Amino acid sequence: MGLRNKDLISIHDLSVGEVATILDVAKKLKRMQKAGQPHRFLAGKSLAMIFSKASTRTRVSFEVGFHQLGGQAIYLNDAVSQIGRGEPVKDTARVLSRFVDGIMIRTFSHESVLELARYATVPVINGLTDLLHPCQALADIFTIQEKLEVLKGRKLVFIGDGNNMAHSLMYACAKVGMNMVCASPKGYQPRPDILARAQEDASHTGCTVSVEEDMFKAAKGADVLYTDVWTSMGEEAEREQRFAALHTYQVNEELLNMARPECIVLHCLPAHRGEEITDSVIEGPHSVVFDEAENRLHVQKAVMALLMSDQTL
Ligand code: CP
Ligand code: NVA
Repeated sequence: MGLRNKDLISIHDLSVGEVATILDVAKKLKRMQKAGQPHRFLAGKSLAMIFSKASTRTRVSFEVGFHQLGGQAIYLNDAVSQIGRGEPVKDTARVLSRFVDGIMIRTFSHESVLELARYATVPVINGLTDLLHPCQALADIFTIQEKLEVLKGRKLVFIGDGNNMAHSLMYACAKVGMNMVCASPKGYQPRPDILARAQEDASHTGCTVSVEEDMFKAAKGADVLYTDVWTSMGEEAEREQRFAALHTYQVNEELLNMARPECIVLHCLPAHRGEEITDSVIEGPHSVVFDEAENRLHVQKAVMALLMSDQTL
């Protein structure tokens, strides 16, 4: 499918076929890496990585992944670049486009990423905004496929804050035909416009995306339980009020009992044990969180190779 030279900003922008291609290429690249086979699809290329927020997984998986594909990744943040001194996004986009073959960005405002992509002449990859985290959700779907084989008709229940992760999972589930329920309290539910778009996609793939306040009702028959922190990066000032609203929205043994016996538990990490998930669940037999984290590497390599490689994959 034709992903060459495109951006990856939102899963909603991808076709059903493009999502399938990313999953297939990720599987192939994971196999090649495990077998020690070279896969230098981006030899001689460079990637600029802009981080205005902290990261462990995203930074390391993009940097290592681009290296394994034969290219070089350059880390930039507000302190070491001119971005922190206020150089306009549109200028950064045009300058970096003269040097590198792709730009990965993690920042606060989603609009900044859209602006970067508007002015860049190379592919732009969204490494998380306040609104979306598409690379994580693609790695999550890949992990679910590895563990449960069939995606269509499965039920994923997201517990907690209707945040960037919830939004991207809604888009991702809708593309692959998985039913998704977002269990969140009033005031912390996903954005209605994102929900509507996901529901529109879901109507084409024959699944449903919905919001439910009662998490026990939502978790009934779940194949996948997913949660994320109550307070995302940039929301630290709201920590207390978020805790008050969300403290019952925890993935624990009681909730797990509502799901299917073979249910898997995902968390994008970093996790706050004792808040959105208990230590016993994240360390328990249903949890696949470290395979999920590893899959960031394989899925992002697929995305980068598909967007930037001159070779046929
Ligand atoms: N899940 C995730 O994106 O982790 P980092 O914040 O460590 O990159
Ligand atoms: N919702 C979290 C995800 C971190 C990977 C945040 O935005 O901080």
